[in-house]
Amino acid sequence: MLQTRNPIHDQWSSRLAFIMAAVGSAVGLGNVWKFPYITGENGGGAFVLVYLICIALIGAPIMMAEILIGRRGRQSPINTMRTLAIQEGAHPAWGWLGWMGVMAGFLILSYYSVIAGWSLAYVVKAAGGVFRGADGAATGALFDSFLQSPASLLLWHTLFMLLTVAVVARGVRSGLEQAVTVMMPALFVLLVILVLYAFYEGDFARGVDFLLHPDFSKVFQHCELLDSGEKSCRITGEPILIALGQAFFTLSLGMGAIMVYGSYMPANASIAAATLVIVISDTIAALLAGLAIFPIVFANGLEPASGPGLIFKTLPIAFGAMPGGQLFGTLFFILLVFAAWTSAISLLEPAVAWLVENRGLSRIGATALTGVLAWLLGIGTVLSFNLWSGESFQLFGKTWFGLVDHLSANIMLPLGGFCIAIFAGWVMARESSREELQLGDGVRYRTWRFVIRYVSPALVLLVFLNTVGLL
Ligand code: TRP
Repeated sequence: MLQTRNPIHDQWSSRLAFIMAAVGSAVGLGNVWKFPYITGENGGGAFVLVYLICIALIGAPIMMAEILIGRRGRQSPINTMRTLAIQEGAHPAWGWLGWMGVMAGFLILSYYSVIAGWSLAYVVKAAGGVFRGADGAATGALFDSFLQSPASLLLWHTLFMLLTVAVVARGVRSGLEQAVTVMMPALFVLLVILVLYAFYEGDFARGVDFLLHPDFSKVFQHCELLDSGEKSCRITGEPILIALGQAFFTLSLGMGAIMVYGSYMPANASIAAATLVIVISDTIAALLAGLAIFPIVFANGLEPASGPGLIFKTLPIAFGAMPGGQLFGTLFFILLVFAAWTSAISLLEPAVAWLVENRGLSRIGATALTGVLAWLLGIGTVLSFNLWSGESFQLFGKTWFGLVDHLSANIMLPLGGFCIAIFAGWVMARESSREELQLGDGVRYRTWRFVIRYVSPALVLLVFLNTVGLL
């Protein structure tokens, strides 16, 4: 096996540190910002059910595959794929999978940083007491006018990218590991407080019904709010692709983030146990966010299909009305920034690891370079909500942000995940994956192998063909 002596090939200080880092990567804007708004756009319960099935049958097994590949290769995803392919007697072109991951990471980080910037701005708004007594119309107007200023969006985007670069440049181990340990549990506590608020003050029954009661007539229905304020819905297979994409997005799968984290994992840690903890924490975070948001949406006559602004229009109503709302609101958005921060660093890490390994860059230089690239791409997203929001700037009916999000989350991640499943299930020898997973040769290992060889790839393929219209 290839040995490199770069500090990036440090290991996590313990099994727990790996789990914390991976949970930090998984739990982020995807859970609190994205999950509620795409659930709102895609009809609710039935969409959630499809999403949960994707998590269990595709997400969890592929997470195990990514970690085991990473730990066996112990390098950046590009070099890991290449080295393991050669080791297993396959073509070194598998390294390209790592490249696609690096690209997907850039695309995602570019808009992730913009949205995290919104959260930063909302820390300041919450602390300033701006939400006090605000109703749905007021929070909506506040958010819409915030979006109209490219300069301030750019400022917050820049600030968040600097935060991300600062941590990745120092190496993930010093600083963030500890921060995650404190911040993640605090985020869960605050989500629970919000759910309690929604229970007492929101339309909880309707919220729960929307989130958890599958109405299958809506599985193929995708709705959007037009600029005129009207809702437009159409029948399409797209919600299923969106649910699949979200399963990858929320678990940080399909682009090498979990792979590179796995490459720093101690050899004696159990991959299956870690996966279980990560997947369950992530799913709970998303469901809590949904339970906090939809009752408030319905109680205040807001539209579930409001799009990316949903949490920024909904939660401030709660903070404006509840006792101690100024404090809780500030705290909540701080924790959301932290959740986004611990995710953003994992989007950059695969590219940085490769630059250090192959281009001889220092860790600081590599981080600065990749940070600037993602920042530049992010300008397109900043403008998507104001100067470039018009139809003349759209392609396939989507803004820049819409396109980048769709291409990365719904196309590249599932494609990457499909290839990872094929690699772990078909290219790697049985002995290799069995040795790495340390599950023995019993029913647990056999089930995983069956799922990763047949079930996960077949489902991903099916969803794809269905959406492209070939089925
Ligand atoms: N999982 C994170 C979230 O839900 C986002 C994220 C971090 C991610 N790393 C990733 C998504 C890698 C896809 C791939 O917010």
